[in-house]
Amino acid sequence: MLDQLYGKHPDYDIFTAALRSALKAAWAARPADLKHLDLKRDLEPDWFLRPGMVGYVFYIDRFSGDLEGVLDHLDYLQELGVTYVHFMPCLKPRPGNSDGGYSVMDYDTINPAYGTMTTFKKVAKALRQRGMSLCIDMVLNHTAKEHAWAKKARKGTPGFQDYYLMFDNDRLPKAYEKTLVEVFPNDAPGNFTYYPDLGKWVWTTFNEHQWDLNWANPWVFLEMAKIMFNLANKGADVLRFDAVAFMWKRMGTRCQSEPEVHMILQALRAASRIVSSAAIHLEEAITGPAEMITYLGQGIHTGKEGNLAYHNSLMVQFWSALASRDTRLMTHVLSTHFPTSLVNATYGTYLRCHDDIGWAVNDEDAEAVGLDGFKHRAFLAEFYEGRFPGSFAHGAYFQVNEVTGDKRNSGTLASLAGLERAVTDGDVDRVELALQRILMGHAMIASFGGIPLIYMGDEIALLNDWGYTDTPAHAHDSRWLHRPRMDWKKLTGKARNDDSPAARVYNGLRHILRRRKDTPELHGANPTVVVDTGNPKLFAFVRETPASATLCLFNFTEDWTSVSGDWARSLGVREFHDALSDAAVELNAERISLPPYGRLWLR
Ligand code: GLC
Repeated sequence: MLDQLYGKHPDYDIFTAALRSALKAAWAARPADLKHLDLKRDLEPDWFLRPGMVGYVFYIDRFSGDLEGVLDHLDYLQELGVTYVHFMPCLKPRPGNSDGGYSVMDYDTINPAYGTMTTFKKVAKALRQRGMSLCIDMVLNHTAKEHAWAKKARKGTPGFQDYYLMFDNDRLPKAYEKTLVEVFPNDAPGNFTYYPDLGKWVWTTFNEHQWDLNWANPWVFLEMAKIMFNLANKGADVLRFDAVAFMWKRMGTRCQSEPEVHMILQALRAASRIVSSAAIHLEEAITGPAEMITYLGQGIHTGKEGNLAYHNSLMVQFWSALASRDTRLMTHVLSTHFPTSLVNATYGTYLRCHDDIGWAVNDEDAEAVGLDGFKHRAFLAEFYEGRFPGSFAHGAYFQVNEVTGDKRNSGTLASLAGLERAVTDGDVDRVELALQRILMGHAMIASFGGIPLIYMGDEIALLNDWGYTDTPAHAHDSRWLHRPRMDWKKLTGKARNDDSPAARVYNGLRHILRRRKDTPELHGANPTVVVDTGNPKLFAFVRETPASATLCLFNFTEDWTSVSGDWARSLGVREFHDALSDAAVELNAERISLPPYGRLWLR
């Protein structure tokens, strides 16, 4: 891969020699306990595919104050069933607004507000001793403009301007803009920023303070590879590569998911395997379905690129089907664009994360089920903002693009699923429906295939944090609506087992995760075959093993509904045993019934 990427660069030979030395040095520096883990995982290469895997994602300050504080909550994580912990950006960010930590000024230093590298290593070890792996963010596409490389580039130090994408005038920026999209059209319009002191335009896809790196420069590859080795050697098991789609620029394109991006990611993966084979890569590519799947390895990259990628489409379709009480689009998209099996890779399945929800539904897919793509996307945005008549949700808009009409949404799982409105109105029936929506969603991401990622607070149904506007650095960014602080009070003493929404969701989720662990059919290597139930209220997939089949069924409506027993038999169901409730399912007049938002894992 490297010769295809950099073979023509004048520094190619000295670059490859330097990379070889970096690989050797990093391997020599890898601590003995991590080398032991490398061997262990070489013998168990499916460790991250096992049904016992459950991820939990949090901001360190919002969860436990600081890194040291994480140690006080390991029992909690274990009780919930967590085996994989994702610390949201924890490397040293720029001061002030840092895009939630995604504007990194030093990749070798832990955010001083959280602790030090010594504490990080201690926490990583403590997690490891409990059988939990640790995921951390590594931002590949850009650095903060305060990063040492950017400062040197700004001063004109030779070589460093070539780490970024800088232009003497606006001729090329204007030409590129013709086909680029806007990521933050409200907060950071345009993809380039002019700096008068520098006399140059700098490529800034995201915010002005996030300078895109020039990955066509092999020295950028080397710097990033060294950072990656260092983080793995400090105890990170999963490296979450941020915003990977944007890493390669090509005139006349959207500059997203260009073939070179996949070459770089495959090369990074190969380098990681040499130094730290225990570590795996999670690629963040929030794109349409056909594009996203390429990050899990396609064509020559099969089995060699990302081990994990976010199943953005599953998340979008979950919310789309809930709002429309109709699963046809969901069934169409998930059965058309996704293979039933992946090689040495799986999804991160999730309902909510720290980001907004972008309505990634394309016009052709919408048309295939008789919908107008634009209108459906607009409906979803209005529904989850809460203004659509009859909506159960309460959320906010994020980045309204006046030119394209595109709107995205913010909000916590519980608020978007209807809990906030129902609680405010004191309506117990609607509270119940909201809780069932939440638990149905958790049961879906726990069985689809992949690592279910629970976003902090969603296990106790935390509502929107409307106070986010009080923090000046956050006020402009509605994503802080769904980044609340952990509310430990909700689970102390008797509260842990009472009838509150928090306890109901917490105990319901724990049950789902325990059942997941005890259901070998849910192993990530087993195919996931999305099937059409012929009933638009129901979404279904079969998890196949050579000897058995588990039919997972989800009711996306507040009505009772049913499906025929013969149809389930035709898909391989023999026992009519629900692995989720661990109980037999009685057929009624040869039909399987599901209550509002009901879910079954039928063996
Ligand atoms: C990723 C992050 C998002 C951030 C962006 C720029 O998409 O998830 O929070 O704003 O990258 O770094």
